[in-house]
Amino acid sequence: MCGIVGYIGRKQAYPILIEGLKRLEYRGYDSAGVALMPAKNIINVYKSAGKVKQLEAAVAGCDVAGCAGIAHTRWATHGEPNKENSHPHCSMGGRLALVHNGIIENYAVLKEKLTAEGYAFASDTDTEVLVQLIDYIQKKGNYNLVTAVQLALKEVVGAYAIAVMDRENPEMIVAARKSSPLVIGLADDGLYLASDATPIIEHTNRMVYPDDEEVAALYKDGSYRIMNLENVECCHEAQTVALNIGQLQKGGFPHFMIKEIYDQPECLADCMRGRVMADMNRIVISAVNNYKDVLMRAKRFIIVACGTSWHAGLIGKQLIESFCRIPVEVEYASEFRYRNPVVGKDDVVIAISQSGETADTLAAIELARERGAFIYGICNVVGSSIARATDTGSYIHVGPEIGVASTKAFTGQVTVLAMFALALAQVQGKISGEQMKETIEELVSVPDKIREVLKQDDYINNMAKVFTYAHNFIYLGRGYAFPVALEGALKLKEISYIHAEGYPAAEMKHGPIALIDMNMPVVVIATKSPLYEKVVSNIQEIKARGGKILAVITEGDTVIKEMADYSIEVPETMECLESLVTSVPLQLLAYHIAANKGLDVDKPRNLAKSVTVE
Ligand code: F6R
Repeated sequence: MCGIVGYIGRKQAYPILIEGLKRLEYRGYDSAGVALMPAKNIINVYKSAGKVKQLEAAVAGCDVAGCAGIAHTRWATHGEPNKENSHPHCSMGGRLALVHNGIIENYAVLKEKLTAEGYAFASDTDTEVLVQLIDYIQKKGNYNLVTAVQLALKEVVGAYAIAVMDRENPEMIVAARKSSPLVIGLADDGLYLASDATPIIEHTNRMVYPDDEEVAALYKDGSYRIMNLENVECCHEAQTVALNIGQLQKGGFPHFMIKEIYDQPECLADCMRGRVMADMNRIVISAVNNYKDVLMRAKRFIIVACGTSWHAGLIGKQLIESFCRIPVEVEYASEFRYRNPVVGKDDVVIAISQSGETADTLAAIELARERGAFIYGICNVVGSSIARATDTGSYIHVGPEIGVASTKAFTGQVTVLAMFALALAQVQGKISGEQMKETIEELVSVPDKIREVLKQDDYINNMAKVFTYAHNFIYLGRGYAFPVALEGALKLKEISYIHAEGYPAAEMKHGPIALIDMNMPVVVIATKSPLYEKVVSNIQEIKARGGKILAVITEGDTVIKEMADYSIEVPETMECLESLVTSVPLQLLAYHIAANKGLDVDKPRNLAKSVTVE
């Protein structure tokens, strides 16, 4: 969480930084700030609680000159989201300004030490402690900024991506990272830095990714050096990043979330491109081919993930178990990392993460690796920490997801998991040519089926109006539809702030049915599946108690249509791939309810897109 951006070069920094912050706002939007260094001995700092727009308004009319600057958008950890706690933070006396994404875990000890040295603190943040520490070390040893940063970071326990400016040296910005992302952009006009490539891509596609515990010195003349904390030079080749600027804009939609819901047919086609072979007989997942021996030797797969990615993992379990007949466990990464799990060299751990930066998932990977497991990553953000921490993996290739509520990443993850299961079953010889062809044909038809569902958007919006002010929702599904129910409930609660729970439909009678009355909308994924008749009985039990049924049904199903208060028809799809189609109306339902309530759909309260704290 938190986004940082910086620029040094020939252009004016302020417009670059403000636009950059807007791109990074998905990482946090509790407060924002910018520091500009127009000349030696001057650093102008502007901050504001709230979103980047509020910062822009606060800065209007101020002196924003300067070809070097750093900026920050915050997701609060230490200290409330007010102006005082906003970044950039300055050292006492104002010589240094610093922005930080991460957590300094030993900040209390460091603060005590600095207080004893006469330092006073203007905020409650761990970040201010870091800038004061750098200042203290710099002054005490009369060091240059790079050395002071290196020495300070050796004393720090925690995670950081930082950018620091020293007003006595306006020719340079120093950046560093450990366990928080940092990318440096190389352009003809100067150097850029940011938490990810999105604020940089419109200026350059040439990027360098420093590793953990490396410090970068970026100079105004466009040159740069990267060193580790021992001052040994590190060499990283610049990579050309393929990112389409259109993917970073709303493209006429009112919110990123609805754009991303609508993007799904093309995104899933991109995800399958080059993997599903034209003859429809084969799936080629290069990581599966390259590591087939390891994967086939595995006695067990363990999927680790959080939130929506965990829901995708639940579907992945069913796919892998049914096609490959290898047992799969699905774990919350946050629980796995702290419970001394039984994991070892016979296990393959599959880590699923859209951002590739989730701290709990990263920690689960580290634990599994220490114990000898092979790690397979499924990520969206190319070059992200998780993508780099895994032994191999597959990108979902759905493009940047900006709305905080995950939509296209979920369907992208399920698509990759389906292709993974099929590709592995293929190398294992566990799937017949006929079954493979049939399943692939279904898979490639999914984008068109999603297009059909999207045609019902107006109908779903009208339905959403009826339920906009409901206080609770229950979502039910069985088999492959159970994770869809969980995901539908999560979407609703995170953006509309309506309490919602997902259950396996048959579990209702073991407790939750007591909640049913005429004020309880119940969303049931009730498509034609082997459990169809049983779901029909579950619906009847709810109807008998006055619950309102919103059913997702297979096209042409008149039986449930008559029973339900509202029904959304989706094209018939093979059961194992159906979640790709049935999750879409639930995304639309959640979106319209939140939008009808006038809520900030893309930036729901208390959340951030990239959860880099535990
Ligand atoms: C919900 C949502 C979150 C994320 C979770 C994991 O819409 O987006 O639940 O799925 O924070 O994030 P990643 O996938 O980036 O590891």
